[in-house]
Amino acid sequence: MKYNIGVLISGDGSNLNAIINNGINVKFVVSNNQNARGLLIAKKNNIPVYTFKNLLILEAEVSKLILHYNTELLVLAGFMKILSRKFIHSLPHNSIINLHPSLLPAFQGKNAIIQALDYGVKYTGITIHYVDEGIDTGMIIDQKILSINKDDTFNTLQARIKIIEHNLYPLTIKRLLDKKRN
Ligand code: GAR
Repeated sequence: MKYNIGVLISGDGSNLNAIINNGINVKFVVSNNQNARGLLIAKKNNIPVYTFKNLLILEAEVSKLILHYNTELLVLAGFMKILSRKFIHSLPHNSIINLHPSLLPAFQGKNAIIQALDYGVKYTGITIHYVDEGIDTGMIIDQKILSINKDDTFNTLQARIKIIEHNLYPLTIKRLLDKKRN
């Protein structure tokens, strides 16, 4: 069965790549950043890409794209802007999800990996949650824990976090879409 989603990105797009490689049908990719490397991944896979610097315009265009492509879920994959309350409430309940590189509610917002390293926690992880109008506050869908090694740097920890993300995010998206249909 095909799963139709739209994806918002701002950067590398490694999670977008994992989603595509898991057979999920990405109908469009939107970015606020015209230099996002993830846009190249989308283009390579013949997925339509759109970039809008202005967030209000981006939201208005994404609303049109959702209708046009009839997508069931809007997936944030390294999208670094805060969506407006108005936009979130204009879509069906629980139809936007986000991926965050910490065990929420710890280390919300930007630089979650650096925050965890600076704090000296022994465990961190990833969280997949519904998007509400707060910053990383929506209902948690799934989490995975990961221990921090003494010699971890931002790069080594981020690399291990991304490996977990690439497994869990596509599986969770499929699970949510299956649930929507049943
Ligand atoms: C991911 O690690 C994701 O958890 C994080 O950005 C990275 C994007 O990587 N998201 C956030 O920090 C959201 N607050 P990618 O562009 O390679 O998929």
